[in-house]
Amino acid sequence: NWTATSILDEQVELIRNQIGDARVLCGLSGGVDSAVAAALVQRAVGDQLTCVFVNHGLLRQDEAEQVERDFVAATGAKLYVANEQDRFLNALAGVSDPETKRKIIGREFIRAFEEAERAIMAEAALEGEEIKFLVQGTLYPDVVESGGGEGAANIKSHHNVGGLPEDLRFELVEPLRALFKDEVRAVGAELGLPAEIVGRQPFPGPGLGIRIVGEITGERLELLRKADAIARAELTAAGLDNDVWQMPVVLLADVRSVGVMGDGRTYGHPIVLRPVSSEDAMTADWSRLPYDLLAKISNRITNEVEGVNRVVLDVTSKPPGTIEWE
Ligand code: XMP
Repeated sequence: NWTATSILDEQVELIRNQIGDARVLCGLSGGVDSAVAAALVQRAVGDQLTCVFVNHGLLRQDEAEQVERDFVAATGAKLYVANEQDRFLNALAGVSDPETKRKIIGREFIRAFEEAERAIMAEAALEGEEIKFLVQGTLYPDVVESGGGEGAANIKSHHNVGGLPEDLRFELVEPLRALFKDEVRAVGAELGLPAEIVGRQPFPGPGLGIRIVGEITGERLELLRKADAIARAELTAAGLDNDVWQMPVVLLADVRSVGVMGDGRTYGHPIVLRPVSSEDAMTADWSRLPYDLLAKISNRITNEVEGVNRVVLDVTSKPPGTIEWE
């Protein structure tokens, strides 16, 4: 029998005991889990925490601002921002294979994070010392899933902002390890995090990079960002945010089809809507969104996003489809 307040008090105590007066880092992804974990640790040990936000340029519209502005305003946490958009675009140039993309993003992320850490140490004139603790937003279902070993874990190589461990010398601080997503949201709200962060649907670490089927370019990211923002805004306007687990919006960059606009022929890309309902992302069903909403999203995307002339709906459950397309 939990309440957000009792979890909060208990975790703050545990975190203080674990960390003592040492310094601690936390990578922020823009997602709920890392934000709530960081806010908890901030509440517990204040300025001993430095948050690191590696902006890989694969985020959705407004997400970077929500980390850099709203998260900081709500928590008062120290934030180090590494703007690494070019680094990721360069590393991903010419790559279409999904697993290769995932590995590159994971690898570059670790490098960027390590560089950020060195910069933070240098700034604090702590060269030569090491930061001992790293906060991870691991949830209970993550613990169970990776404990399971086989299966889902092998289908896609996951990159989380928590995806740092492997070669890791950090001792982990995982204040959300016993919690489910709805509990994490409640604790986040209790900590004063804004609704846009606390209510956010799950979003993969590799971001839009695995929602562009084909090579990732700056232009394609821009296009997908626009389509995604429209789809999300309309879902919210329809009051259906809580009816879907998440709604990936996918750009089929390697596909083009013929269309007509005014008197002219178009030859553009399709956008796929992938709204799903799920309890834990292990299995999922496609969401039966109202036709009127789908029509509105389709009209707006094809009218407002240049280069897109078709919107299609993914009606596949998981299994056999996965939630993300890559
Ligand atoms: P799939 O596509 O495997 O996705 O059905 C299941 C859930 O996991 C999310 N996902 C990821 N989350 N790093 C993450 O943090 C990743 O690399 C990653 N890949 C997929 C996906 O959005 C869905 O919620």
